[in-house]
Amino acid sequence: MVERRFTRILTDLPGPKSAAVFADKARYVAAPLDTYAPFIIKESEGALIEDLDGNRFIDFSGGWGCLAVGQRNQRIVAALRDQLDHFLHTDFTAVPYAPLVDLAHMLCERTAIDGEKKAAFFNSGAEAVENAVKIARAYTKRKATLVFENAFHGRTLLTMTMTHKARPYKTGFGPFASDVYRLPYPYEYRKKVTAEEIETSLLSLVDPSDVAVMVVEPVVGEGGFLVPPTWFLPAMRALADKYGFVLAFDEVQSGIGRTGKFFAFEHFGAQPDLVCVAKSLASGLPLSGVVGRAAIMDAPVPSGIGGTYSGNPLACRAAIEVLRAIDEDGLLDRAVHVGDRVRGGFRRIADRFDAVGDVRWPRRDDRDGARQEPRHQGAGEGADGPHRRPRREVRSHLSHGRTQRQRPPGPRLPRHHRRADRRRHGHPRSGLRDRAEVAGRDIPYATTSSPQRRSDVRRRRTERSRFCGSSARFRRRSPNTRSLLRYLNTARGKPRVHCDTDLATSTFAAILSPRLSHQGGTT
Ligand SMILES: Cc1ncc(COP(=O)(O)O)c(C=O)c1O
Repeated sequence: MVERRFTRILTDLPGPKSAAVFADKARYVAAPLDTYAPFIIKESEGALIEDLDGNRFIDFSGGWGCLAVGQRNQRIVAALRDQLDHFLHTDFTAVPYAPLVDLAHMLCERTAIDGEKKAAFFNSGAEAVENAVKIARAYTKRKATLVFENAFHGRTLLTMTMTHKARPYKTGFGPFASDVYRLPYPYEYRKKVTAEEIETSLLSLVDPSDVAVMVVEPVVGEGGFLVPPTWFLPAMRALADKYGFVLAFDEVQSGIGRTGKFFAFEHFGAQPDLVCVAKSLASGLPLSGVVGRAAIMDAPVPSGIGGTYSGNPLACRAAIEVLRAIDEDGLLDRAVHVGDRVRGGFRRIADRFDAVGDVRWPRRDDRDGARQEPRHQGAGEGADGPHRRPRREVRSHLSHGRTQRQRPPGPRLPRHHRRADRRRHGHPRSGLRDRAEVAGRDIPYATTSSPQRRSDVRRRRTERSRFCGSSARFRRRSPNTRSLLRYLNTARGKPRVHCDTDLATSTFAAILSPRLSHQGGTT
């Protein structure tokens, strides 16, 4: 069992035992399954990981959003042990079992859709989304699917087509599925869109009477942790009602308590017809599901949906315990509390560093609807109009194994300039920054006056860019966080890992879950 002390680095990373496994991996595991952490896990509990060489880390990845109740939560372990003593697999459609029925019951009760509901279970998030489309097609007898910019829905042929980002998800994998149409998404910070523009776009792309389903993430995950304006989901509900198609919310990433409500859509006052769930549902065991209006869920012919392992009994037992833990341990409130705390920290950093353009959600007064205006002048609907990109910004995207750093074109001052600037002028936003904006990127080092100073600056820059990314968000983190970033970022040439408020919310919810918080917390 992992000892309850936080990080401990005993060896270079990877240590010798991990390095031996990595050597075998390079030889026998397909290259596209590239890995991020520079160590091989031996065991884990809560949010702590110990590797084969005895190094210990805090796990901020949470299995990419799957561990809302923490690794090896004891009630889940007990339920799994009990299930192991009974049976492992039948395929529910061959020999049915109670845990799947119990889980469907619990999930339907927790899904904030009016009227009679039903659920069906699958293995992965992509399967859930794909089945939601199949169910909607069977119900409407139509074929087209509407999706949005910035969407991520999975890696099967259909869901890969529905996913927006081409690289790496679509590179080399075409041709793609047909009848998928992409609408603009109201990305408040960079690109404002109105409901009318979305409808106009819909009408120009496809005959609405051909549309079976609109699939939307209530809070976009992979595409940048985007929280839509409050009008968005109700407006999409109105479009679905107007043109008679099914409205499906992909809550694979945003659901199961991650935003402080069981489903993220509950923040917005619009009900879907179908909801897709996965990730934290079964705390790391492969389980996904579609929950929705009974009449729609019942539309496919018998055996039209399903799969050999769908709703595996072990996964269903785990999911039942996850739902109980969320209720009985008060984890929704906990997520709100931790979210506030993390957000407060990010806000302070954003207020201090011009490079941080936006800190999104959750904010106490956002939670019931009111959206915060973008901080940047020129972001969103500022003096320069709705589509102007912010002048300078560092933005990080993190989701299920893919991290990217994007920055709009334009001059950007190297960080050491700003630090030096503070040192010299005692204020972070004084002259040098303005000069940089005028002059572009090629400003000579203002403070590298001596060789010693130059090498000092270089060393610190290298270290920080290697281990901490170059986001201003993490410049002044605690030793704990820095060592976390170090282990996540050690592998050269890998994308750097940054942290988003939303990710942090769920991660910290795991770290500071009531069971662990009496140990002293980790922030
Ligand atoms: C919103 C969303 N939908 C679908 C998926 C696909 O889930 P899976 O990887 O389990 O197929 C993901 C995965 O991250 C996701 O974030």
